[in-house]
Amino acid sequence: MKLDVVLGLQWGDEGKGKIVDVLANNYPVVARFQGGPNAGHSLHFDGKSFVLRSIPSGIFREDAKNIVGNGVVLDPITFKGECDNISAKTGIPVTKRIVIAKKAHLILPTHRLLDAANEAAMGKGKIGSTLKGIGPTYTDKISRHGLRVGDILAPDFAERYAKLQNRHITLLKQMGFECDPHAEDAEFMEAVDFLKKFELVDCEYYVNEILKTKGILAEGAQGSMLDIDYGSYPFVTSSTTSCAGACVGLGVNPHQIGHVYGIFKAYCTRVGSGPFPTELFDETGEEIRRIGHEFGAVTGRPRRCGWLDLVALKYAVMISGVTDLIMMKSDCLDTFETIKVCTSYIVDGKPSDQWPFDTFADIQPVYTEFKGWHTDLTHCRTEEELPQEFRDYIAFMEQYLGVPIKIISVGPDREATIMR
Ligand code: IMO
Ligand code: MG
Repeated sequence: MKLDVVLGLQWGDEGKGKIVDVLANNYPVVARFQGGPNAGHSLHFDGKSFVLRSIPSGIFREDAKNIVGNGVVLDPITFKGECDNISAKTGIPVTKRIVIAKKAHLILPTHRLLDAANEAAMGKGKIGSTLKGIGPTYTDKISRHGLRVGDILAPDFAERYAKLQNRHITLLKQMGFECDPHAEDAEFMEAVDFLKKFELVDCEYYVNEILKTKGILAEGAQGSMLDIDYGSYPFVTSSTTSCAGACVGLGVNPHQIGHVYGIFKAYCTRVGSGPFPTELFDETGEEIRRIGHEFGAVTGRPRRCGWLDLVALKYAVMISGVTDLIMMKSDCLDTFETIKVCTSYIVDGKPSDQWPFDTFADIQPVYTEFKGWHTDLTHCRTEEELPQEFRDYIAFMEQYLGVPIKIISVGPDREATIMR
């Protein structure tokens, strides 16, 4: 069987949580393969809402197993909080539904402090990180200093923790960052004990064994334009958010990839710093933020909003080999007179249809305009109910991107989904 992958194609917050939850019905196993609690995946069903950070979005499906893969960075404290919240609200036996890769790296409290220290030191040039310790943890992974989930079973784990923490304390002192690096030690160790209640697995063997008989859905976090290699570096996250990340982050080979579902919103948003060619600073941007409730699920920050950028989207489709597109929040554009999509750029004065290398280039969007549909899409459940203007708009996008739009979401709830 295949590993199907769901990816965000923009700057994150495309609606991955909802779609994984909708698709999870067809998959006995859902896996996260990169990122950490910088993610905030929102799910709405049966009148309840949840924001998932490290837990895969299959957690609410009774017979689904959820894997926290080796490409993930796991913060035991946040993870325990997330599990406790779900158990308290739903009674779901989380320890039975989640398995954790031994090779996933641990986020220490001092990784979070380093994240804050780095951002403070960068002043105006800061990334706008979620301050969850993501960058420093992946830094330790690559520089071969990190601690992994499987290490918690070692008899000398406490010493290894202290050793890494001391490294961090030296760095924090060098940076002149005022903090109490030991403030969360006890809570961390308690959360580490909590991790021991889960099945800790050799993810690559575990996943490959499942794939002999069953399909797996891999849930991406963040978005393609935040990819460490192909995003708008340095304004990116520290992991591979494109399809290749699913292979590395779970231990599967590329031949095992099946569908690559690419999710995008009918407009764009971004939190944190960095280029955003179609960003709107006017009333229209405000209107999109208001209608789309575009405030961070993790940080509460107002998200930057703008028109759909097809140049960036086509780039993301190319990098990940997207086979099926999924369009979210179409209904948020219901009331607009005119709807714009960016179909090329003027980069430093020259026309271009490519995402530019230079993060600091002057990128001006060139728009194609569409007539608004002035119809409440939230009640549509079939293709036939969609207004003609909307269908024309979709047909244009499919033509431009060369990939079919297979799912259209017209509201946050599981039910507000049109399968084509
Ligand atoms: P989901 O999975 C949107 C952004 C941050 C910042 C940059 C680096 O919900 O789509 P980091 O904390 O990763 O070092 O921050 O990446 N960022 C996200 N933006 N959605 C996310 O996750 C994000 N995770 C990180 O705002 O600009
Ligand atoms: Mg989010």
